[in-house]
Amino acid sequence: MAGDLGSIVVAVDGTSGSGKSSTCRGVAERLGLRYLDTGAMFRAVTWWMLHHGVDVHDSEAVAARVDEPVLSSGTDPTGPTIAVDGTDVSAAIRTDEVTRAVSPVSTVPAVRARLLAMQRDIIGAGGIVVEGRDIGSVVWPQAEVKAYLTADPAARAARRALEEGSSDVGTTEQVLRERDRIDSGRATAPLVQADGAVHLDTTSYSLDEVITLLAGLVEQALEPAP
Ligand code: DC
Repeated sequence: MAGDLGSIVVAVDGTSGSGKSSTCRGVAERLGLRYLDTGAMFRAVTWWMLHHGVDVHDSEAVAARVDEPVLSSGTDPTGPTIAVDGTDVSAAIRTDEVTRAVSPVSTVPAVRARLLAMQRDIIGAGGIVVEGRDIGSVVWPQAEVKAYLTADPAARAARRALEEGSSDVGTTEQVLRERDRIDSGRATAPLVQADGAVHLDTTSYSLDEVITLLAGLVEQALEPAP
């Protein structure tokens, strides 16, 4: 398959803490592509719901207000941004409170429908690495490159705890496993390995190695067919 960098779409799905964000940003930076973190969009909606006192476990209440937050995603891999109603929430969406509430919010079909439309709008211009749970299966199944990243739960918890400066690896692993369970078990657009996706188990690789592997898949997709 021959393509060009300006129009290519790289879809990267996988479990929480498998190294998707760092890998996708690294590949986008290396190849001069844009970067979209769709998890940040789900987190931003979740932040807005919490901020407005909406019960995140009441799917009807969440669905009733899903059109209200005005989201804006910046796609520069060296400094991705996410704003809601004009306020930068890049840090606010990473709190424990949001992390615990985001899986239930992202099971609500109306939330997924709204974000799906926004994601397709951003991806449409091409030249982008997109990370999430359902990018290769639902959002952009026609992506030229699809990868599915996983890692051993203990390794994921250790990395995440290190990033967050936490020493409680056991609790981190428990939260990750619970998010995996909800993300994989939901009825709408569950986390799955998409058709045609290359599975990369990142457990025993360094970040740089995974970036090189994924960048290699992109370069391969750009080569003219023999
Ligand atoms: O990638 P992340 O951990 O920041 O994602 C936060 C949550 O958003 C995750 O638990 C599931 C949800 N999500 C989703 O349902 N679909 C996506 N494409 C991206 C994220």
